[in-house]
Amino acid sequence: MPERFVSSLNEVVSLRERLEAEGKKLVLTNGAFDVLHVGHLRYLREAAALGEVLFVAINGDKSVRELKGPGRPVNCVEDRAEMLCALEFVDGVVVFEERRASSVIEAIRPHVYSKGGDYTADSLIDEEKAVLDRLGIEIKILSLVAGKSTSETLKCLSKVEDSTKKVAIFGSGKGSNAAAIMEAASRGKLGGEVALVMSDVPSSGILSEADRYGVPRIVIDPGTTRVGHLTDASLKEIRDRLQAASIDLIVLAGFMRILRDPLLGAFGGRILNIHPSLLPKYSGLRAIERAIEAGDHASGYTIHLVDGGVDSGEILKQEEVPILSGDSPEHLQQRIQAVEHVAYPEVIAEQLAKLA
Ligand code: GRF
Repeated sequence: MPERFVSSLNEVVSLRERLEAEGKKLVLTNGAFDVLHVGHLRYLREAAALGEVLFVAINGDKSVRELKGPGRPVNCVEDRAEMLCALEFVDGVVVFEERRASSVIEAIRPHVYSKGGDYTADSLIDEEKAVLDRLGIEIKILSLVAGKSTSETLKCLSKVEDSTKKVAIFGSGKGSNAAAIMEAASRGKLGGEVALVMSDVPSSGILSEADRYGVPRIVIDPGTTRVGHLTDASLKEIRDRLQAASIDLIVLAGFMRILRDPLLGAFGGRILNIHPSLLPKYSGLRAIERAIEAGDHASGYTIHLVDGGVDSGEILKQEEVPILSGDSPEHLQQRIQAVEHVAYPEVIAEQLAKLA
């Protein structure tokens, strides 16, 4: 820790003696000062006005964790000290490792001890109050700044985080669309994050793609060996897991099972699918092969909302891809997928923007 941001106890004690000799006062306050906010600033400015020098004693990281919980401190002790020292009305910072400030108060013996906000002279921690009374230290309780507290600030920050739209991608295969979507998200082009990848096929490529992008992934049990189906229990479990992960939009990318209630109802209008044909032509399986067999001159993809039918919901976007003479299903699929990978992230971004 750079020396200049934290003073040793000895330095503060000698400073106190110098001040006393000059008839000046040292003011001490303490706290975690974990997330600095304007309530702190106003209170510290007021505290500084109680004497000539203001020192802030801050808890070390371990005691903040013990006092405030496992997610704290948000800022480490070095950063907290640096921020406080940058304030013009703070003259210095000392760090104490105990939960309570009693020993630091006892060592420094400030002329004034000030505490802010939600304390009263009577509600000071007994241990600290006993030291202050024994040493005859003047206690000043400063007023609470309404609505400007650490808990209010953390509440606002948690709302900011919650506003990030969350996407779950379902797939049974290679996962090239999922990869394109996760790539777009990682470049900030999705307007949301891919929070979950789900597959019914434990060996599917889509799960490795999720790992490559560091996205949580789960394998679901369809509950049946019946091709293309999910049992009620499985659908319910999927719904519960998505809700627990606060998913806003479900994106199907090569998911080979039919969705229905209770999942459909819970995410009505918020499930997208991509199908390799110009719907309503060739819904269902073997769409690419059927277009070639029929001698069509064009195929393509369709992105649509999912309803209770097979590839039957409202169409959001379609694009034609020509079928070349002698085209094989593999070559045509490659060319269709190349355009899918561009279009799907764009349509997802549009849908997420509508949810905002
Ligand atoms: C996509 O090409 C899509 O048209 C169809 O399934 C394919 C999935 O491929 N629904 P991938 O798993 O995204 O590579």
